[in-house]
Amino acid sequence: MAITLRSRAIRLGEQSFPYFFGEDCIDEIGDAIARMECDTLVFVTDDHVLALYRPLLERLARGIPSIILSHRPGESMKTLACLSSHVETALRAGVTRRSVVVSFGGGVPGNLAGLMANLLFRGVRLVHVPTSTIAAMDSVLSLKQAINSPVGKNHLGTYYAPTAVYADVRLFASLPERELRSGLCEMAKNCLAIRPEALDQLRAIIDSGELATPRALTWLLDASIEAKTAVTRDDTFERRAGLVLEYGHTVGHAIEISDHRARGAAGVAHGEAIALGMLVAAHISRAREWLSDDEVRIHHEIVTGLGVEPRLPGSVGVEEVLAVVKDDNKKGYLDARADAVPMVLLRGLGRPERTGELPLTHVALAEIRRALDAMARTTAAAVRV
Ligand SMILES: NC(=O)c1ccc[n+]([C@@H]2O[C@H](COP(=O)([O-])OP(=O)(O)OC[C@H]3O[C@@H](n4cnc5c(N)ncnc54)[C@H](O)[C@@H]3O)[C@@H](O)[C@H]2O)c1
Repeated sequence: MAITLRSRAIRLGEQSFPYFFGEDCIDEIGDAIARMECDTLVFVTDDHVLALYRPLLERLARGIPSIILSHRPGESMKTLACLSSHVETALRAGVTRRSVVVSFGGGVPGNLAGLMANLLFRGVRLVHVPTSTIAAMDSVLSLKQAINSPVGKNHLGTYYAPTAVYADVRLFASLPERELRSGLCEMAKNCLAIRPEALDQLRAIIDSGELATPRALTWLLDASIEAKTAVTRDDTFERRAGLVLEYGHTVGHAIEISDHRARGAAGVAHGEAIALGMLVAAHISRAREWLSDDEVRIHHEIVTGLGVEPRLPGSVGVEEVLAVVKDDNKKGYLDARADAVPMVLLRGLGRPERTGELPLTHVALAEIRRALDAMARTTAAAVRV
């Protein structure tokens, strides 16, 4: 049964936009887009999402002239070549300043659409309809729109706000289990690092085993919006309070990169890697006597509850991870040290340690090595509670 769209106002510094969400609400989203009075809709999606949802794009368009720009699924399409091809197709099809770019897909079509909307005529209206949990609970809540360079991830980008975001949680039902859980790991990060008061409800949902029901997904989406906007409200560019969103990312990102070098696309999913990074961060905080055994246990309980094995993938070695950690992109935020990197560490659930106003602290590579060694030795049984 259709329910009325719920909405939340998202404010990121000077910028703000509404986020509407609900269940079985494609027609309501179509109504809202029709009210934008545009001349053309430019849908940006990927081939996999398009194969699943082409009829929904027709329902969203309501007869407004539309073009569909689609590419192969996956991170490898976040390139200048793909962006350039989409922009050229749109221009040749006759888009104008009155057109609206609509991302319909995960974070990859979302980032390509965001950059494209910002570039076309120095800025046309952008609407996000996220179809993955990562896109809905994370990337559309940020103004960051970036693609990858041949040298590295998210090197080419800008900040650009959508006119609105519309999410129908029913769309997440077709996500592969791995993608669903990957998004929920980022959501778990928000609870551990920002909103521990939401942990009881998260644990109840995990225990019920019903993560993919519309009711659970609606709560998870609402809680993600609440947690993420709490730290980005006054931090448009996510360079101050918003840095807490990097919890688990220093080591997690290094595990992800190392595993993808070893196993390609079969490597650990982004959210799972972040979950492992959070466990490493929690162990370091425990060693510093900042977190209690109980708080570390809560980390393990949530991470394993989301189906992540709490140990390094067999294809990844401690030294490789440390080599990538040394290049982490948060290095410029604190003074440079040869034997340490800035990381988000918790002094309690929801309480990051700060250096000045930044939720970052120097962590010695030796501390990270000890925590990784401990995790490499850990067996799932040893941490089950
Ligand atoms: N801007 C930001 O701040 C920010 C934040 C987080 C992530 N991101 C970016 O987002 C990307 C990751 O997002 P993602 O995981 O959504 O990637 P993605 O767009 O590649 O989607 C992942 C996979 O899920 C599939 N998929 C999407 N929706 C589906 C659905 N409803 N049913 C079935 N399959 C579906 C896609 O076809 C794809 O194969 C990365 O490039 C990351 O850099 C950006």
